[in-house]
Amino acid sequence: MTLAALPGPPGTRILGLGHYRPGNVVTNHDLIARGVDTDDEWIKSRVGIAERRWADPDESVVDMAEQAASKALAASGVSTDDIDLVLVATCTMVTQIPAAAPELASRLGIHAPGAYDVNSGCSGFVYALNAASAAVLTGQARNVLVVAAERFSGWLDMTDRSTCIILGDGAGAAVVGPSDTAGLGPVVWGSDGAQFDTVAIDAESRLFRQEGQAVYRWATGEMAPIGIEACKRAGLEPSDIVAFVPHQANLRIIDALARRINLPNAIIARDIVTSGNTSAATIPLALSRMVEAGEIPSGAPVLLLGFGSGLAYAAQVVLAP
Ligand SMILES: CC(C)(COP(=O)(O)OP(=O)(O)OC[C@H]1O[C@@H](n2cnc3c(N)ncnc32)[C@H](O)[C@@H]1OP(=O)(O)O)[C@@H](O)C(=O)NCCC(=O)NCCS
Repeated sequence: MTLAALPGPPGTRILGLGHYRPGNVVTNHDLIARGVDTDDEWIKSRVGIAERRWADPDESVVDMAEQAASKALAASGVSTDDIDLVLVATCTMVTQIPAAAPELASRLGIHAPGAYDVNSGCSGFVYALNAASAAVLTGQARNVLVVAAERFSGWLDMTDRSTCIILGDGAGAAVVGPSDTAGLGPVVWGSDGAQFDTVAIDAESRLFRQEGQAVYRWATGEMAPIGIEACKRAGLEPSDIVAFVPHQANLRIIDALARRINLPNAIIARDIVTSGNTSAATIPLALSRMVEAGEIPSGAPVLLLGFGSGLAYAAQVVLAP
């Protein structure tokens, strides 16, 4: 099924998508060769990852963001002169300040836009998408460039085999602009701050750590109703959804959520198999790759579901560009 519009008043939509994956492929066997005490079969069966991409040593978050953003801008047909706001969802900038967004805008030749970063861990892209949509709806921006870019290879504890095998690097981007019809459904977002410390970059070691089983239980137990609510608020049934693009944290979480939401007609994003978990970037990266491969037609209703550190989450239905 494809739709010209979601039910509801005129609004905003995604006008174009782009993505970037670094060229450096790191297989499970490569990790073993680097001394990680693991095995290919454990990672594939428990997490679903066969390989991930790591940036080159001199390749930064902004470098990857620039690649993805350039493609999204080209796909959207929107001129850089018509972008008034640049948002970057990331939690892996080496610097606290400056943020990535102003530098990215400058590199792309976008003159004097509003520019800031959004840090909500793995749910950051959906949060940024809604900040973009709100800015367009309230007349604060004509079009917004939304990018999620992560370079987790710089924050890995290579002695912790339960985390260093999961994370990767990459970027995805979308251009959000006005639309005579609704192309972005209402967001369903929230957080469970009682579990704020379960996914973190440790303040002392400056390395990623998480309580994997707590996050696993929370994601499989609490996130399906959020996805169902996002469909409902968009005026759709789960059976109307053509593609499900959840955060790519673990293939078993992805498949459990697809089963629990009950999406009989949806293709399921399983980009984790070859991209790993790129935190905020997983959703736009997977969505852009699926659209580029012709797996999701223009106008198809797609359910996005981001979740992770915070523990924060955000879900919404969007129409594919
Ligand atoms: C991270 C995750 C894959 C770990 O799986 P798990 O089954 O919870 O693993 P545990 O850490 O409890 O370890 C279970 C066993 O597997 C072993 N193990 C852990 N990592 C391993 C690896 N890479 N290779 C081989 N064995 C491993 C442990 O040593 C342990 O062995 P033991 O029972 O003999 O002590 C899982 O918890 C998960 O996906 N959580 C979701 C969280 C997430 O992805 N968050 C990202 C941000 S949203």
